Amino acid sequence: MKIVLGSDHGGFALKEIIKKSLLQAGREILDVGCHSGDAVDYPDFADKAVSSMLRGDCQRGILVCGTGIGMSIAANRHRNIRAANCFDIQTAKLSREHNNANILCLGARVLDTDNALRMVTTWLEAEFSGGRHQQRIAKLSE
Ligand code: RB5
Repeated sequence: MKIVLGSDHGGFALKEIIKKSLLQAGREILDVGCHSGDAVDYPDFADKAVSSMLRGDCQRGILVCGTGIGMSIAANRHRNIRAANCFDIQTAKLSREHNNANILCLGARVLDTDNALRMVTTWLEAEFSGGRHQQRIAKLSE
């Protein structure tokens, strides 16, 4: 499973911390930027990350902005993308189990770094439960 990482300037520092942690854990990643704290527009980086997933290059994505809100709105414009803006370990886990979220959105300005890293680990390890949830997410792609 290859994971695409993207951020705007508000999420840049946390994205770098997440990248380091994932690389240390031996995860395969693609970083589509941004690559500094200079101001950029989050839809551009959400689109780059989503494109890598729709091409099949990456299977999961983690997008970071100030609140996670802009990134989730931008990513969810695309068919078959289920981007979940999560705030704690429970919502991160449930976004996988119930929603089969393929993108985790995080808000660097509203999350504690250790909590964000724990959310990433939980989210990557949690599995979709299927069953009654499958028919629900199928309706999102109609
Ligand atoms: C950028 O200042 C900020 O608006 C952005 O990172 C994000 O929070 C938008 O949802």
